[in-house]
Amino acid sequence: MELVLVSLCLLTFTGKAFGDKPNQTPITIKEDESVILPCFFSTTLTDKRIDWKKDGEDVFLYENGRVNPSSQNEQFRGRVSHFPDKVKSGNASITIKQAKVSDSGSYTCVYLNEDGREEERQQIRLTVDGFKLLQNSSQIAFA
Ligand SMILES: *[C@@H]1O[C@H](CO)[C@@H](O)[C@H](O)[C@H]1NC(C)=O
Ligand SMILES: *[C@@H]1O[C@H](CO)[C@@H](O)[C@H](O)[C@H]1NC(C)=O
Repeated sequence: MELVLVSLCLLTFTGKAFGDKPNQTPITIKEDESVILPCFFSTTLTDKRIDWKKDGEDVFLYENGRVNPSSQNEQFRGRVSHFPDKVKSGNASITIKQAKVSDSGSYTCVYLNEDGREEERQQIRLTVDGFKLLQNSSQIAFA
């Protein structure tokens, strides 16, 4: 249980320490909820590579017109989807379902051209509140 407290503090800490400049409004949700992480580029993306990462970990990869799950981090397996019919109009948003506290972090959405060169990126911060966990931890802390 002490471990839970420590990891919670750590999360709060890293959340503040990462001083990157998100160009989107941060999103906060509760554990187990679904969330759409918005990403939009003013170009058609069907022939591009779309690469979503969270603090360097692979979240979602779209290339050659389809989703490529081969390098996806285990943490996100089966929980991330995109909007296939929106890619043409530049919408690279993804949905994460059954969000976990460990999904919290800084997400980047990048699109790369045919040569694999990065063209543009967007960044968004997600915070997943472990509501139950917090309540229980404080009970323990002040018992
Ligand atoms: C992108 O698609 C999602 C899902 O349909 C939608 O919620 C969002 O508003 C779209 N974004 C833009 C900029 O069109
Ligand atoms: C928190 O405590 C409640 C009861 O007080 C319990 O039902 C729940 O499962 C606990 N949640 C966690 C994550 O330990």
